[in-house]
Amino acid sequence: MRILSGVQSSGKLHIGNYYGALRQFVQLQDEGESYYFIANYHSLTSLRDPKVSLEMTRDAAVAYLALGLDPKKAILFRQSDVREVLELYWILGTVTPLANLERATSYKDKIAKGISPDFGLFAYPVLMAADILLYSADIVPVGKDQVQHIEFARDWAVKFNAQYVPGYDPADPEGKERGHTPGIIKLPAARLQESTAVVPGIDGQKMSKSYGNTIDLFGDEKEIKKRIMSIKTDSTPVDAPKPVPQQPPSTPGLVSDAPLYDLLKLMLPEAEFRDVDASWKAGGKGYGEYKKKLLEAYHATFGPARQRYAELVADPAGVESILQDGANRARQEATRLMEQVRRAVGIP
Ligand code: ADP
Ligand code: TRP
Repeated sequence: MRILSGVQSSGKLHIGNYYGALRQFVQLQDEGESYYFIANYHSLTSLRDPKVSLEMTRDAAVAYLALGLDPKKAILFRQSDVREVLELYWILGTVTPLANLERATSYKDKIAKGISPDFGLFAYPVLMAADILLYSADIVPVGKDQVQHIEFARDWAVKFNAQYVPGYDPADPEGKERGHTPGIIKLPAARLQESTAVVPGIDGQKMSKSYGNTIDLFGDEKEIKKRIMSIKTDSTPVDAPKPVPQQPPSTPGLVSDAPLYDLLKLMLPEAEFRDVDASWKAGGKGYGEYKKKLLEAYHATFGPARQRYAELVADPAGVESILQDGANRARQEATRLMEQVRRAVGIP
């Protein structure tokens, strides 16, 4: 089973990103042959500063490695290191119905937000399909917002095969029955990431870099401490039992009305959280004490990754060599597929 996913890096990673996405990616490397790439061509649809683009790409690679992506198990590479993806993107574009792109939700969402669309944004799903199909991926783990893109990739793979592979039957894509030919392009399936609860930020809203309420994964130690110490709490006296979060939260717009409690629950080992939970409900401890506990939990959870992050940042040549190695392995797959694709369409 081949697992593939792309990550766009669009800013400093926070613990919401970790629990909501990165953790699952890292776990999946033990389930099959995995390909992870940094979608730096895709990022050009939103980043226009070359220095920032380069830096973000490097940072995403370092973050993944620091969080446990093991280059011996998974193939980690930059999208742009395998240029064949652009060739497949063009060829797929010739079988992509315009109507599909017009109803792409990602595109419609961006327009609704007032972003003035360019061709790159419009064509984004075609490049994404090329990313997936180029490496004959079976499974693509993604969040809900990306599922439509995987369905497109599947549909266009069928279109390509039906157009260019004599004897291909869409009802039998692997050509198992007599007289049928298997497709050249393999059909992928989305794997919806089990939805982790939304991680609250320090103000109780969804943790998001756009709200300035994050606890970053690799940020400055003092800043992390400051953020944790300023988690929003109420004025319950030290001796009194503390209110536990209501579900749904009593204040509209919040994902948690006791973010300190929810973050402790997320980061503490189960047995330790049980003690915290008991004392929280009994009273006798102030919020300051719980914040210290959370800071400890943060360092216990992310300390090793932060250490690796610092080491990797100090070793750009080592990181580059991991990425090059990943690209070489990915390119072998890409070359194999593109030879068949070119032959099928009549490109010498
Ligand atoms: P941000 O909201 O900070 O811009 P992104 O939209 O870049 O984060 O999200 C990247 C990934 O992290 C997505 O898969 C998203 O589902 C996950 N994610 C982001 N914030 C949270 C959160 N607060 N709780 C759970 N998952 C999150
Ligand atoms: N569009 C994806 C996102 O924003 C990133 C991505 C690009 C991707 N190419 C991909 C994800 C291929 C899975 C497979 O999250």
